[in-house]
Amino acid sequence: MEVIAERKTKTVYRDNDKTIKLFVENYSKPDILNEALNQARVEQTGINMPKLLEVTKMENRWALISEHIEGKNLQQLMEENPDKKEEYMNMFIDIQLNILSKTCPMLNKLQDKMKRKIEESDLSDTIKYDLNTRLAGMPKHNKICHGDFNPSNVIVKEDGTVYVIDWAHVTQGNASADVARTYLLFNLDGKKQEAEEYLQKFSEKSGTPKTYIQRWIPIVAAAHLSKASEEERKFLMHWIDVVDYV
Ligand SMILES: Nc1ncnc2c1ncn2[C@@H]1O[C@H](COP(=O)(O)OP(=O)(O)O)[C@@H](O)[C@H]1O
Ligand SMILES: [Mg+2]
Repeated sequence: MEVIAERKTKTVYRDNDKTIKLFVENYSKPDILNEALNQARVEQTGINMPKLLEVTKMENRWALISEHIEGKNLQQLMEENPDKKEEYMNMFIDIQLNILSKTCPMLNKLQDKMKRKIEESDLSDTIKYDLNTRLAGMPKHNKICHGDFNPSNVIVKEDGTVYVIDWAHVTQGNASADVARTYLLFNLDGKKQEAEEYLQKFSEKSGTPKTYIQRWIPIVAAAHLSKASEEERKFLMHWIDVVDYV
């Protein structure tokens, strides 16, 4: 088996026409089953994605086995073809818009997840209160929000068909929250210019005012704190601090 990706908590292997996501021992069972259930639910919407084939254990470790999608992810393609960056960015946004045009009533609610993450964070009670007030005032929609939509989670096959992977964080909710999250992911990855280009283009293509999207930034930044490194924390605190900037 060939290793395709290595992370702190899992290793991703290719085994012929299958991808095996093998988690470290003692990885949260609810999180693994949640990822599997999310993937199964979103499969039914007709979005192009690898089908989940098995949830199993290998050497006492949980594994999720899916179809293998042969191709390159958009992050690799953007790096390899700088001249086509704009084309890939347009493609990236169109794919997200397609996902956000769909609903899937059984998914967990974005609003609930954000509320829980804010509560679990180590922010002061005052900041938590401000963030919760802002969250409660946001329009309640039910769009499919991928939750980790970044170019490495979009795979382009040789024939040009596009697949979206990594559905562990999907919820249903307000599309602008998902867009704010992608904006933040570009920034956390050190890609400030791409972040701004992305936000500008998404706003134009969707007819969503930028300020609608920016209002979600403090919330999605707070929700990301639990996963952040020390360096990322500083950056996130800056975004949370600007709670009153729009
Ligand atoms: N079904 C799949 N087919 C092809 N490649 C995959 C598949 N699942 C994952 N990969 C590759 O492995 C990488 C990591 O997997 P992913 O599910 O995105 O986990 P994470 O981003 O949480 O580490 C992806 O960026 C992709 O390159
Ligand atoms: Mg990924």
